[in-house]
Amino acid sequence: MSVPVLTIDGPSGSGKGTVARLLAKHLGWHLLDSGALYRITALAAQRRGIDLHDAAAIAELAAHLDVRFVGEDETCVLLDGEDVSRQIRSEQAGEAASVVAAHPAVRDALFDFQRRFAAAPGLVADGRDMGTVVFPQAFVKIYLDASAEVRGERRYKQLNEKGLHANLAQIIDDIRRRDERDMQRPVAPLKAADDAHVIDSSFLTVEQVLTECLARLGK
Ligand code: DC
Repeated sequence: MSVPVLTIDGPSGSGKGTVARLLAKHLGWHLLDSGALYRITALAAQRRGIDLHDAAAIAELAAHLDVRFVGEDETCVLLDGEDVSRQIRSEQAGEAASVVAAHPAVRDALFDFQRRFAAAPGLVADGRDMGTVVFPQAFVKIYLDASAEVRGERRYKQLNEKGLHANLAQIIDDIRRRDERDMQRPVAPLKAADDAHVIDSSFLTVEQVLTECLARLGK
């Protein structure tokens, strides 16, 4: 692979989204938020009244998604030209994404689309299987982890800041359940690649994680 790719995999709430976005900005590289693709696929399916368990219909939909990442840092997501950036961030959208992401046919349908994000000068790819499946030849692979409690607290704080009511115990419970589904699925389960650098962000600041990632890149 001529274009350098940095993969950041890990469970939700580990901070990988923030770290990936800041690293892409710092390096001037493109950003792939692969979780957004699963979230958008689920949203598109729900809008068309497709059952989230109908793997064939959702794979067909995923193969023809009209999705674009725009804006300066490529974090604004357009589905059929409509900005759905906020809509796909809800807990319900994450849950639905986890369901569609468990279908092998859906993952296949999104594979080539994700590979095409590797463009000069480089790519930061954020997800669950970036280092294991989509970019196995990546230049540097990071697996960012954190305890379910810490991840739950981070999510709880985020929701409170947005003025949304939340129950911490429920959030931690949901995180555990989603981890379980993502880790136990037979295809592309959430796990660190053998050659990934594992970083536990539970007691690290974002800056400390960034410094560690840049050091791995030799920057
Ligand atoms: O990173 P996220 O929370 O936006 O991801 C939403 C869901 O999508 C998550 O529960 C698992 C799934 N996912 C996946 O299976 N593979 C990826 N590369 C990214 C996300």
